[in-house]
Amino acid sequence: MKLASILLAGLLVLPSLTADAAAAAATEKKIDDLLGRMTLEEKIGQLNQLSGFGYDPAMVGRINAGAVGSILNEVDPVTVNKLQREAVENSRLGIPLVFARDVIHGFKTIFPIPLGQAATWNPALVEQGARIAADEASSTGVRWTFSPMLDISRDARWGRIAESFGEDPYLTTVLGTAMVRGYQGDDLSKPNTMAACAKHFAGYGYSESGRDYNTTWIPEPLLRDVVLPPFKAMADCGAATFMCSFNDINGVPSSGNRYLLRDILRGEWGYDGMMVSDWGSIQQMIPHGYSADLRQAASQAINAGVDMDMEGYAYVGHLKDLVESGEVDMATVDEAVRNVLRLKYRLGLFDNPYVDEKTANRFYLPQSLEAATRAVEESAVLLKNDAGVLPLASDIKVAVVGPMADAHHDQNGTWSFDMEKNRSVTPLESLRDIYGKDKVIYAPGLKHTRDRSTDGFAAALDAARKADVVIAFVGEEAVLSGEAHSRADISLPGAQSALLKELKKAGKPVVTVIITGRPMVIAGDLDSSNALLYTFHGGTMAGPGIANVLTGRAYPSGRLPNVLPRMSGQLPIYYARKNTGRPAAEMTLIDDIELEAGQTSTGCTSYYLDAGDGPLFPFGYGLGYTTFSYSDPVLSATEITPDGTLTATCRVTNTGSRDGAEVAQLYVRDLVGSLVRPVRELKGFEKVILAPGESREISFTLKAADLGFHRLDNTYVVEPGDFQLWIAPNSAEGTPVSFKIVH
Ligand code: BGC
Repeated sequence: MKLASILLAGLLVLPSLTADAAAAAATEKKIDDLLGRMTLEEKIGQLNQLSGFGYDPAMVGRINAGAVGSILNEVDPVTVNKLQREAVENSRLGIPLVFARDVIHGFKTIFPIPLGQAATWNPALVEQGARIAADEASSTGVRWTFSPMLDISRDARWGRIAESFGEDPYLTTVLGTAMVRGYQGDDLSKPNTMAACAKHFAGYGYSESGRDYNTTWIPEPLLRDVVLPPFKAMADCGAATFMCSFNDINGVPSSGNRYLLRDILRGEWGYDGMMVSDWGSIQQMIPHGYSADLRQAASQAINAGVDMDMEGYAYVGHLKDLVESGEVDMATVDEAVRNVLRLKYRLGLFDNPYVDEKTANRFYLPQSLEAATRAVEESAVLLKNDAGVLPLASDIKVAVVGPMADAHHDQNGTWSFDMEKNRSVTPLESLRDIYGKDKVIYAPGLKHTRDRSTDGFAAALDAARKADVVIAFVGEEAVLSGEAHSRADISLPGAQSALLKELKKAGKPVVTVIITGRPMVIAGDLDSSNALLYTFHGGTMAGPGIANVLTGRAYPSGRLPNVLPRMSGQLPIYYARKNTGRPAAEMTLIDDIELEAGQTSTGCTSYYLDAGDGPLFPFGYGLGYTTFSYSDPVLSATEITPDGTLTATCRVTNTGSRDGAEVAQLYVRDLVGSLVRPVRELKGFEKVILAPGESREISFTLKAADLGFHRLDNTYVVEPGDFQLWIAPNSAEGTPVSFKIVH
């Protein structure tokens, strides 16, 4: 850039920076003033978050006394305003409440669960979904959502994988940032925004053996390179709040974890947002065995840096005494209160505390339903399509089978508190719209996904015989994933796999559509199917979205945000693994081992005798209705210094005969490190739409500084040496090119 333009750019940027800094300083002054006027009880009140439903006299009493800072779960705008009036007009200092709710994948217009949104690999769509959720929820007075969840999830037994963006820190970072942008907009004080909450800080996805709330053991390099990067991005992009997690890391529960909450978040990252506990998580340090009683738990939590106590009664019960006895400094309480008040100022609540009842309840706008449909379409991952069964022709008779075909409730997935079941459109309804009622023969075969009775099989088989194609909607009900809903066996529950086998007997093509909350074990079901479309609980518009993909009105462009294991026993499993000293080579599987074979006869490499080496499908995998080719990547340089950058370019061509979208994925491997490095790591991706024959050049710019890692002593290093780079359709394909980092 020329000097003149640098100066000009500086002039343009400076005034707004100064204005922001001045506004921030003015806010801090207002907070100083308030803090100076608050009693200790009123301060503690600001740190107290309670769940409330309705205009309850006991709650009103607390609000009038200044003993509540935030209410979660009230979503009626009239009640919100009545409660707010009690705070603003009838409490001594008139500090507004902030109303919160778990708006995780939509408020009324429900979008696919976050794992499904991750499968879109489309940050713009994720941002749009969050914007719609914020508009709907804020129209009831909810100005704070407990989303996004950024827990890296590599164990599909863990029910909360549904709420995650999957196994990869880079994908999670990009989509999490997009979600925050959607919720918060460009100005959080606008009344149609919601404060985001980066949760659960941290390591919750590493719950041992995929069992919820379980302990975690996370060494520093794993913490720094995998668990924390998405959270760091949240601090950097201005996510207004954080929530600490339920689990302990290496023996210290997050609610009492000063290292995480103070040293890293506030110290290293300079975060000035607000930290809320998880539901009762301060109190839960007692059963953890970290606190003897609630008083000690309160002291540990506030000293560690938990600003607000969610439904825990630890702070209201004990902070006053702790301050008076000198065990907790007033300065520590003031700092927490400051963080809460800053949030309320940022949300504009002091100027504009009430929700506008005239424009309240803005739900289900046509453009919102359209965006939700597109999110379903783009989240559908095509895993098999033998002989081009899909897309389905328009002049056929279809048998619609399976317990998820018409599951108005269950297609919404976990965390859809505010959804209205009768607004959900199911695949059965949409297929009837498309084909006409008499061309769709419906015989569910099973009443629900856990149903073990085969009584309905005969009718389902009969329907299959009468039709040209069978579409079987199987999967998991909403309640089988999400918080506290872990499973040890992640195959299709009930008699669903048996139903798929039964349907084969009709001799008609079987198209299986999985609708689920997690990556599942589907190896056998894949064999029973001619085509398989893997979808996640899709929300309100799951029906139209899936039906559009099945019939070619839309094309599948979803890519797996987690590997799909062959067997539950492979868990945890993820693509960015270490190679081991004996990577799998020749594998002799269990049925091929000779009787009385010698101990070393299977080759002594790293694999399972029954499951082999890798997953059933790799991370990033997904087919379309067309095919794509990739040229070899061309690098701008083959050697770069640690402060240098590298551009990798390749040409992607639609080699098939239909439109389609391809997700080009950039992976890197550091071949030799002072700590062994993963076999591949995602460093970029781009989704491109191409017409038949069309090709596009795709370029990624990599900073050498982003190719480092943390050593055991917690230093971050970019080590010189040899690297490989792929631009590929998924984490298992592509031809690598080499480059070096040199000092
Ligand atoms: C969950 C959080 C959620 C909170 C409030 C907890 O049980 O872990 O993710 O935001 O409840 O409902």
